[in-house]
Amino acid sequence: MTIERASELLASARTGLAMTGAGVSAESGIPTFRGEGGLWSRYDPVKVASIDSFLEDPAGYWRVARERGPAVLAARPNPGHIALAALEKAGRLVGVVTQNTDGLHQDAGSRRVVELHGSGRAVQCLDCGTRERRSEVQARLDVEMPPRCRACGGALLKPTVVLFGEPMPIPAVEEAFTLAKAADVMLVVGSSLVVYPAAQVPLKAVEAGAALIVVNAEPTPFDRLATVVIHGRSGEVLPQLAALLSAA
Ligand code: APR
Ligand code: ZN
Repeated sequence: MTIERASELLASARTGLAMTGAGVSAESGIPTFRGEGGLWSRYDPVKVASIDSFLEDPAGYWRVARERGPAVLAARPNPGHIALAALEKAGRLVGVVTQNTDGLHQDAGSRRVVELHGSGRAVQCLDCGTRERRSEVQARLDVEMPPRCRACGGALLKPTVVLFGEPMPIPAVEEAFTLAKAADVMLVVGSSLVVYPAAQVPLKAVEAGAALIVVNAEPTPFDRLATVVIHGRSGEVLPQLAALLSAA
């Protein structure tokens, strides 16, 4: 059975690496971007989540952020996040590269988390660089749209996440590719694997000889490269995987 095969691969992993996407947080109540009910089925990502549209119409961005805010800020790690932290603790994974900005891997106890798209837990002033907690800004979005910097009296605030058209954080990208090239097993969970350069991370791992395991609710373009493909919910599959490994 595929889950046994996946646990065999991970049982012998010395430099296993996980990469996650929005699907791993879906069971924490955070809607994904693509797939069933995804955010991009209701909004045009380029219109809403690109740096150009943000600068042109910051209120447009912040209105969507205000809508998503409560679910993201209230989200807690689900059994999928917790299983990945357990696999790292057991030495089966060296860490998690994530496209998510929700901070749930850190909350679940993962120690090495590489955030390719930044963190949604903070916002930063585009003028003076002052940072504030995203949760504090959420509280004033009903009376302040778009939210303004309190430190310098009024410049725009932007979450410390990578928007379309923005460069990704070089240190995070470099760390992700270094870990991928050294990986003997690459476990990709909950990503549609259509956004680059993030999707290059598992490619680099496979090119360097890693065995690829894909866990996703629906098929991905990388399924054909995978040694094991498990179509299922990460909150169910990952704990089963961790349980098999701890019983091994
Ligand atoms: N378990 C496993 N997979 C799931 C679950 C679940 N419970 N729920 C949904 N999925 C799958 C979906 O089928 C989909 O293929 O997770 C995948 C999520 O894909 P996306 O929404 O495209 O998320 P992601 O791959 O992380 O997107 C990459 O695109 O919009 C940008 O910056 C944004 O980081 C994001 C990037
Ligand atoms: Zn400022």
